[in-house]
Amino acid sequence: MNKIVNPNDISHVVAADKKHVWHHMTNHSKFTDEVDPLIIVEGKGMRVWNQAGREHLDAVSGGVWTVNVGYGRESIADAVRDQLVKMNYFAGSMGSIPGAVFAERLIEKMPGMSRVYYSNSGSEANEKCFKMVRQIAHNKYGGKKNKILYRQRDYHGTTIATLSAGGQDERKAEYGPFTPGFIEVPHCLEYRSQWGEVDDYGIRAANAIEEVILREGADTVGALCLEPITAGGGVIVPPVGYWERVQEICKKYDILLHIDEVVCGMGRTGTWFGYQHYGVEPDMVTMAKGVASGYAAISCTVTTEKVFEMLKPEMSDTMGYFRDISTFGGCTAGPAAALENMRILEDENLLENTVSMGEYFLDKLESLAGKHSVIGQVRGKGLFLGAELVTDRDTKEPVSEAFAQAIVADCFKENAVIIGATSRSLKGFNNTLCFSPSLICTKSDIDEIINAVDGAITRQTA
Ligand SMILES: Cc1ncc(COP(=O)(O)O)c(C=O)c1O
Repeated sequence: MNKIVNPNDISHVVAADKKHVWHHMTNHSKFTDEVDPLIIVEGKGMRVWNQAGREHLDAVSGGVWTVNVGYGRESIADAVRDQLVKMNYFAGSMGSIPGAVFAERLIEKMPGMSRVYYSNSGSEANEKCFKMVRQIAHNKYGGKKNKILYRQRDYHGTTIATLSAGGQDERKAEYGPFTPGFIEVPHCLEYRSQWGEVDDYGIRAANAIEEVILREGADTVGALCLEPITAGGGVIVPPVGYWERVQEICKKYDILLHIDEVVCGMGRTGTWFGYQHYGVEPDMVTMAKGVASGYAAISCTVTTEKVFEMLKPEMSDTMGYFRDISTFGGCTAGPAAALENMRILEDENLLENTVSMGEYFLDKLESLAGKHSVIGQVRGKGLFLGAELVTDRDTKEPVSEAFAQAIVADCFKENAVIIGATSRSLKGFNNTLCFSPSLICTKSDIDEIINAVDGAITRQTA
């Protein structure tokens, strides 16, 4: 008997996913006989389609600020395909054509930086820095200058060492014990000032880092690791004067400055890198998500020549060089995709678009705040924006995580718009809606997102 098969029916895929795939950040108890996992089947530009054919506007670039150049880029797929059939892989002890060419192009965008170490995720790129700091401490300071400072509310990854450097209590909960030698410094969100109303909050927050250094002993502190603009900890744009003072402090105490550009890198905030808004000169920069916009897995740990030289001993020294291994850092798909991704960002003037659309988006969010008192503050830079929700503007009492998630769910259900919110990150403060559309977004996309949020807040506060 002939079986009639509907080629558009992917119910077997959904069933296989439901039965066998373990999704990230997901409590699988939510899947019941009636509730299936969502499968994203296709993407084009700013839009994605699910298994039922429903079209969604993606305001978070693949959920976690990744697809900077948008979906369905055939030229990236072609570049990866061409590279793979020529040479797909060799371990990183050898070079590759796209690896060398992308490193050169990247360094052109990062004056003062010099060397690129390839790996595959933001966490891994950050781990490389931590290992460099520890090894430099051994080689140069008798092992003593090995502590790494990180900031409350920042996130640097999911592995045990990067969680040890994580300033988000809920991300860390139940995964300890952690790696020793990671020390927290205070956050710099003026809206939630730890020192009451101060005129020079930026300087005050930076000085708080110095206080920690003095408490620990500057001769024990090897590096300070910061996000240029905190992402999942609530979209925190550093206050005026902060970065300049941070730089001074690092120089004063001979502390390496490691900037985690995993989210902000590759144009997200309107400059190639977030730190470039502030004239900072980092010693180490890490990046991942937007480097190849998710078309291939790639991350980069970029250092100055000075850092590189500290791990380049005499040939007779068999231990003092950076003895790290990243098997898949040798995949050529990453740098091949990254090169084409960078070409698109340049040829389509996407940094300029990020600046102008970012201003438009921020203006629209401010208008929404004028209409809805549940929005306590809007903030961000470029196409990396947040709206912190409060139950009361005077007390700044945060809304519950459930409320913030209800806004996200409403946008999804009623308007098929995918927005984000800080979640399972900071106890009591998972209350910031997040917007990070692809850098190709237009005014009409932004209007559609704002319209969805406006409707969601109206319905959820009724
Ligand atoms: C600032 C920051 N650093 C590092 C990471 C970790 O990157 P990955 O998930 O690729 O390991 C993230 C992930 O969200 C991040 O937001």
